[in-house]
Amino acid sequence: MRIAMIGAGYVGLVSGACLADFGHDVVCIDRDPAKIAALEQGRMPIYEPGLESLVADNVRQGRLSFRTELREAVAGADAVFIAVGTPSRRGDGFADLSFVHDAAREIAGALSGYTVVVTKSTVPVGTGDEVERIIRETVPQAEFAVVSNPEFLREGAAIGDFKRPDRIVVGTEDPRAEAVMREVYRPLYLNASPILVTGRRTAELTKYAANAFLAAKITFINEMADLCEAVGADVQQVARGIGLDGRIGTKFLHAGPGYGGSCFPKDTLALAKTAQDHGMPLRIVETVVAVNDQRKRAMARKVIRACGGSVRGKTIALLGLTFKPDTDDMREAPSLAIAAGLQDGGAKVRAYDPEGIEQARPLLPAVSFAEDAYSCAEGADAVVIVTEWNAFRALDLKRLHMAMRTPVLVDLRNIYDPAIAAQHGFAYQGVGRSAGTASTSEA
Ligand code: UGA
Repeated sequence: MRIAMIGAGYVGLVSGACLADFGHDVVCIDRDPAKIAALEQGRMPIYEPGLESLVADNVRQGRLSFRTELREAVAGADAVFIAVGTPSRRGDGFADLSFVHDAAREIAGALSGYTVVVTKSTVPVGTGDEVERIIRETVPQAEFAVVSNPEFLREGAAIGDFKRPDRIVVGTEDPRAEAVMREVYRPLYLNASPILVTGRRTAELTKYAANAFLAAKITFINEMADLCEAVGADVQQVARGIGLDGRIGTKFLHAGPGYGGSCFPKDTLALAKTAQDHGMPLRIVETVVAVNDQRKRAMARKVIRACGGSVRGKTIALLGLTFKPDTDDMREAPSLAIAAGLQDGGAKVRAYDPEGIEQARPLLPAVSFAEDAYSCAEGADAVVIVTEWNAFRALDLKRLHMAMRTPVLVDLRNIYDPAIAAQHGFAYQGVGRSAGTASTSEA
């Protein structure tokens, strides 16, 4: 199969590289010449484990190439994927579809022979209809079908998620387009990854429903964590206790500082907006958005409480800045609200992140950056674990304690055992666990 992938961002680049690895001929197209030039030299625009070597292998084998111009690649393609950004529109939170619409217009002018146009970007219900209308209006005689094929990959685990998906959702009513999509994903079908063929609007909504449900699950356990702190219970044990019920499941029940990233915050807002526009407000989703927003700032207050009620003049060390580990992505990261809250309280904030400092620097102008966890903690009045990078899971607590002025450890990801932290002389605060309660494993 010959595939054109429009957009070499997270989804486009990972999908393009993985589809090439399946054996397809893939051209990734991006308007940004600097990005394409870097990719041609083997430099990745994002940090994603395994991506650089996957891209290099497939470029070497001649199955993957990069362009700034889409005409030639689209004309020769069996399937054209639209994987451009759909940021939140300023003001109303609705997904900004201008990049998708631009791509549709450009694709229309380049189509040649029957082509399947696939929206891979997360797009609101009805966008497929709009893309179809734009292409039809631009080139009335074009032979094409528009399919929705949402992507469910996670940053940091993107390649594994693409190659071993729980399911593939294909939204189309056109049997010819369905056959092309089955061929695109045939290598996965042999691995028994289920392909769910639905109507186009259903596929579009499925993507938002999945992200909203996961965001709600996280928010549920986060609120439960606050209650655990109030009543003296342990949220990790509660999560395990409910998660072992197969109907609930153990995943996405890790209490923390609130969800961030480029997907959950944007998609929950856009879904709530779509629902309002249809006169069907989703009250649960709206509440999830509000609770999560408040939570990020509340984490700064939690740190202030752990420091005895004031951080004025104190130095607070933040370990981890990205919205989650194994990415350099700072979008909607809880660290941003936490740093701001601490600075508003008069603290000096110092931070370290294994991959995110370059992205974080312009977003956190008043924060100073350290070279590693221990130099970050030097002379600090509290260390706050914001992102659970592996590098922070087995810190030398003795060395950390010695580096600090006051041994306060606020562990917003519950990666340390409170009892062990206490043994090392830390005043320890996790999330949803009263200090000193160690998590016991089940027998
Ligand atoms: C999310 C979804 O998990 C993917 O399935 C989806 O394809 C993607 O959005 C998307 O729409 O493109 P991602 O944003 O990369 O993926 O990251 P997640 O691993 O889902 O984490 C999102 C946020 O939730 C992070 O801030 C993370 O720290 C937080 N989280 C996650 C928790 O606080 N607790 C958990 O138990 C799980």
